[in-house]
Amino acid sequence: MATGALLSRAARRLEGKVAVITGGAGGIGESTARLFSKHGARVIIADIRDDLGESVCKDLGPETASFVHCDVSSESDVEKAINTAVDEHGKLDIMVNNAATGEPVKANILDNDKADFERVVSVNLTGVFLGTKHAARAMIPSRRGSIINVGSVSSSVGGVATHAYTSSKHGVVGLTRNVAAELGRYGIRVNCLSPYFILSPLSREFFNVVRNGRVGVYSNLDGVSLQKEDVAEAAVFLGSDESKYISGHNLAVDGGFTTINPAFGLFARA
Ligand SMILES: NC(=O)c1ccc[n+]([C@@H]2O[C@H](COP(=O)([O-])OP(=O)(O)OC[C@H]3O[C@@H](n4cnc5c(N)ncnc54)[C@H](O)[C@@H]3O)[C@@H](O)[C@H]2O)c1
Repeated sequence: MATGALLSRAARRLEGKVAVITGGAGGIGESTARLFSKHGARVIIADIRDDLGESVCKDLGPETASFVHCDVSSESDVEKAINTAVDEHGKLDIMVNNAATGEPVKANILDNDKADFERVVSVNLTGVFLGTKHAARAMIPSRRGSIINVGSVSSSVGGVATHAYTSSKHGVVGLTRNVAAELGRYGIRVNCLSPYFILSPLSREFFNVVRNGRVGVYSNLDGVSLQKEDVAEAAVFLGSDESKYISGHNLAVDGGFTTINPAFGLFARA
């Protein structure tokens, strides 16, 4: 049975919506594609990993999901991904700009390469700009839509990740706010979703927090650890009509990490 049939019709919060998800072949993007389809959305996965993307789509079923090869730093690829949604389904309701990459961890800025910096910005920030631009092109005529940009805790605090990644993720929040200011007149909402650390190929590569096989990072919330499915749940909320008056917002899915500074120890734990 296709995953989309698992929830009752009444419980499907994205029924009839069409979504493009960049970086949907794995990680948070794949979880989002799977949860969106459970909630009744048809999804287009846009990624550079063709085999994985095709296999997720096969699993979800051809009536629910399709794959398009798309490098988000290429405008013609992004344009093609959006056109696929419009050609196949006649519209675009939700754009999830989720694809991202990182650069090698180097503790000294003097060792950081310009080429690495520009590559990361071209995917993480220019890619979000291109996704937003072409999603807006498809959404403006219907005067509705939800654009969800995936940021990070590195969108609002420093010292957590590398320079290019942190810069690009701060930029994503700025872009989100600016485009929200422009597109509100068309009824289009633009928000950012900023997760805390989840173990993935991308985070393992450069958050530098896995030691002796254990993830050793501070977490404010005891008894629970963030899973990619939790981020997908937040994306369903931002994509659904339940969030119809929320725009220009950076929704942190971080257990309080970016708003709490434990350094003074007022509530220090034993
Ligand atoms: N995992 C974490 O801890 C964490 C924390 C905060 C934010 N994030 C953000 O969540 C998002 C998803 O990250 P993830 O952890 O699932 O990573 P991931 O590496 O598991 O998945 C990223 C996906 O993006 C794709 N991708 C990479 N470059 C691309 C390009 N140029 N064009 C199209 N697709 C491309 C990859 O093929 C992959 O499928 C990213 O925006 C990331 O910055 C992740």
